[in-house]
Amino acid sequence: MFRESHKALIALLLVTGYAGYSIHIYTDLPQANVEQHIQVEKGKKLWQSYNCIACHQVYGLGGYLGPDLTNTYSLKGPAYIKAFLESGTNVMPDFNMNNEEMEALLAYMEDMDRTGIASPSSFKLHLNGTIEQ
Ligand code: HEC
Repeated sequence: MFRESHKALIALLLVTGYAGYSIHIYTDLPQANVEQHIQVEKGKKLWQSYNCIACHQVYGLGGYLGPDLTNTYSLKGPAYIKAFLESGTNVMPDFNMNNEEMEALLAYMEDMDRTGIASPSSFKLHLNGTIEQ
């Protein structure tokens, strides 16, 4: 079959291929935006501790006193959301949040917004039963 010199050449090719590929994989890792991630985590904790889900839904799940907030960030914008958080309404309490908390909550809502579209009425229904957002 293979001569000894060919075997060595094939082994060398495999080893360099493996090493090259490994170097490529491990030096090309996506850089996570750590700062942004920390903000989002903080916002998520606030969302939970202020219990927004008691009155609001995410992807249609949650309380039904207020509207679904999954896509509020892109639909109405951060200034609109901030106004609600600062002043509340006669139904929604104002939570006396400081600016830092509000920014974290907005980061969380922006992140949530990126996960998809919440309103099923905007989905396209195919004849085979699948949906398209
Ligand atoms: C006690 C119930 C209640 C809680 C808790 C609550 N909300 Fe609300 N929220 C409402 C209601 C009801 C509305 C709709 C306006 C109205 O009728 O007063 C609303 C409206 C909003 C709106 C405007 C949405 C739109 O599409 O116009 C935003 C943004 C919002 N709330 C964010 C929050 C966040 C963030 C939290 C948690 C920190 C929260 N809410 C907690 C009841 C609540």
